[in-house]
Amino acid sequence: MYVCLCSGMNCRQVKQALSEGARSHAQVFLRNGLRPSCGRCRDTIVGMIDEHAAQAGANDGAPAALDPLSVAAE
Ligand code: FES
Repeated sequence: MYVCLCSGMNCRQVKQALSEGARSHAQVFLRNGLRPSCGRCRDTIVGMIDEHAAQAGANDGAPAALDPLSVAAE
């Protein structure tokens, strides 16, 4: 699904940029070699950044027992 209609940037490209360390609207564009134009996608991208950060925070606090590799090693 397209996130930015001006540049043609899609959801996969945004997620890839986030996994590579992008943490702002501008950084997402930069990592994809693109430039924002109208800015209508800003809220959507900021929402995806927040979601990514929340997911990363949730994973950081996961108990080791929920990790199948650590359970297998016991
Ligand atoms: S929709 Fe992203 S800059 Fe216009």
